[in-house]
Amino acid sequence: MQDNILVVGSSGQIGTELVLELRKIYGNDRVIASDIVRSSQEIMNSGQFEILDITDNKKLLSIVKKHNISQIYLLAAILSANAEKNISFAWDLNMKSLFNVLNLAKEKLIKKIFWPSSIAVFGPTTPKNLTPQYTITEPNTVYGISKLSGERWCEYYFNKFNVDVRSIRYPGLIGWKSNPGGGTTDYAVEIFHQAIQKKAYTSFLSEHTTLPMMYMTDAIRATIQIMEAPSENIKIRSSYNLAGISFNPKEISNEISKHIEGFKINYSADFRQEIADSWPQSINDSLSREHWNWKSKYNLKIMTDEMMINLKNKYKLASDEK
Ligand code: NAD
Ligand code: SER
Repeated sequence: MQDNILVVGSSGQIGTELVLELRKIYGNDRVIASDIVRSSQEIMNSGQFEILDITDNKKLLSIVKKHNISQIYLLAAILSANAEKNISFAWDLNMKSLFNVLNLAKEKLIKKIFWPSSIAVFGPTTPKNLTPQYTITEPNTVYGISKLSGERWCEYYFNKFNVDVRSIRYPGLIGWKSNPGGGTTDYAVEIFHQAIQKKAYTSFLSEHTTLPMMYMTDAIRATIQIMEAPSENIKIRSSYNLAGISFNPKEISNEISKHIEGFKINYSADFRQEIADSWPQSINDSLSREHWNWKSKYNLKIMTDEMMINLKNKYKLASDEK
């Protein structure tokens, strides 16, 4: 029998794209979207959607039973910048959501889980360049602490209860279909929108702040690839390093300038600078490549070209509709 999939957090930056890609592969009726708020029109129109607060264990169980769910992609979380503004709420949501889903698998009510970790598991004492899979992890943000704890719990549930949980440490993600939800890497999406609309952007990170990033198309491909890999290939049950592109605000603005004549960038660093400064600049993902054949496809130029074409189209369509 084929698996039915539940995506929790389907209205967010990743969920908006992941649900549609999963539906393309497994069929519209096999992929159930869920969130505390409605998802995009495309998601609402192409398959089933449930309002679900993932901290509500009873409702989660009833949805799993109703749709005969066997796989869950758990995307609901509070991201790095927002988490610093409400630390206990962020800790509670990020941990409770994971336990609720891990426990369903422990009780054999579902078979497989995807849960994303982040480059935020690293901290100021971590080596910054080509950060290895196994290294110092001393995060100093509530988000990073919750992701590192989550990784330890995933590995624990795999070792003790044979829970098939798979995870990757996403870098900052950049896509044109959806907006980011309160992270430190959000500037790298905002800059495209502002460049098209205003030919100017004020970055909340300083010009030389290099961070690991990835185009959403690569991230979605990695997510589905790790979930489809044979179980014995997934040798790391905490979370895998994943690398795409590394750049700073100056470098991305230079690339955008090739598409937007007269584009200007200014810098006005805020509280997110300290978070960014604690994270690596580039990631070594050799174990993802070795274990489940991961390879990123997008560099800064190709990503910028795609973002520009698609966003310009999107804004043109929106203004034609007015
Ligand atoms: P997002 O903030 O855009 O989306 C999260 C979604 O979860 C939102 O739609 C929100 O409404 C929903 N949500 C919040 N509370 C909920 C609750 N109680 N029950 C159900 N849904 C709830 O986040 P995203 O960027 O899509 O990230 C998804 C996951 O990937 C998160 O775990 C995040 O930490 C991780 N991640 C994201 C990035 C990135 O750059 N986007 C990088 C690293 C890791
Ligand atoms: N993009 C995420 C954030 O900035 C990284 O996990 O919070």
